[in-house]
Amino acid sequence: MRKAFLKSSNEQLKKFAKIVNGDKPLRKISVDEKLKVGVDLGTSSIVLTVLDSKDRIVYGAYEYDHAVQDGIVVNFIESVNILRHLKEKTEKVLGRELKTACGAIPPKTGEKSAKVVANVIEETGLICTGIEDEPTAAAKFLSLSNGTVVDIGGGTTGISVFRDSKLIHVVDEATGGFHMTLVLGGRYKIKNDEAEKLKRNKDKESEVYAVIKPVVEKMAAIVQNMGSEIIDPVIVVGGATNFTEFTTTFSKDLKRKVYKPLYPQFVTPLGIAMFDN
Ligand SMILES: Nc1ncnc2c1ncn2[C@@H]1O[C@H](COP(=O)(O)OP(=O)(O)OP(=O)(O)O)[C@@H](O)[C@H]1O
Ligand SMILES: [Mg+2]
Repeated sequence: MRKAFLKSSNEQLKKFAKIVNGDKPLRKISVDEKLKVGVDLGTSSIVLTVLDSKDRIVYGAYEYDHAVQDGIVVNFIESVNILRHLKEKTEKVLGRELKTACGAIPPKTGEKSAKVVANVIEETGLICTGIEDEPTAAAKFLSLSNGTVVDIGGGTTGISVFRDSKLIHVVDEATGGFHMTLVLGGRYKIKNDEAEKLKRNKDKESEVYAVIKPVVEKMAAIVQNMGSEIIDPVIVVGGATNFTEFTTTFSKDLKRKVYKPLYPQFVTPLGIAMFDN
């Protein structure tokens, strides 16, 4: 069962990775077909995802941004501009207009940030049909009703425990991929953008990982501190988990098996679109 759900999620993620930011959708859609749209305003990227009425992948686009910090929109105009751009690109590829979208916020960030995200979405001309919480969106995409989702993005690490599809426990810490970049920058005495490039350089992965491993261990310790509140399976998502050794370190420190889907940065954005009803 456990293997089966990651298998189908991984198949979807592979399809998504092939078409994201490209000039063709996964399949042709008719002008009146219902589409479901998700908007993920993250601290390091804004992702727009499009599904059909049966939650099958249609298209997606993303851009990097710096308009969100700690899960909160800090530059409204920049967020709107990026999202508008993604919407226009998507509409060109699909040959039709997008009408609605669902957004998301990290848990416990409150009504105010939900309102800001909804305003960003509506400012681009889309009707915002709801604001989900991010881990619930990830769990939905993964068909996870019991377990723990650890979402490690650019600026935040969020741990969310689900029982019977209900979010029963949430811990959020201000650490993530950006923290890894800072550690690399310090180690090699290079600027942040150079360190960011080095971090993603697959050819340098083993050297890079040796430097950032203590950051990963710190992240694992945050999870470990939750003790018996953790429910298996533990699944890590988010862009900062993009290292081959990541789950090995996590599994070892947590003394339990840790799972990671393919293209973990697209799990939450795809889950958000599933709520655009
Ligand atoms: N191939 C890669 N190797 C290493 N790190 C990566 C890779 N791709 C993305 N990242 C890192 O993942 C982080 C972004 O992850 P993600 O897109 O999940 O974040 P976000 O949703 O924008 O942020 P948050 O969830 O904190 O609001 C960045 O720190 C980025 O450097
Ligand atoms: Mg995120």
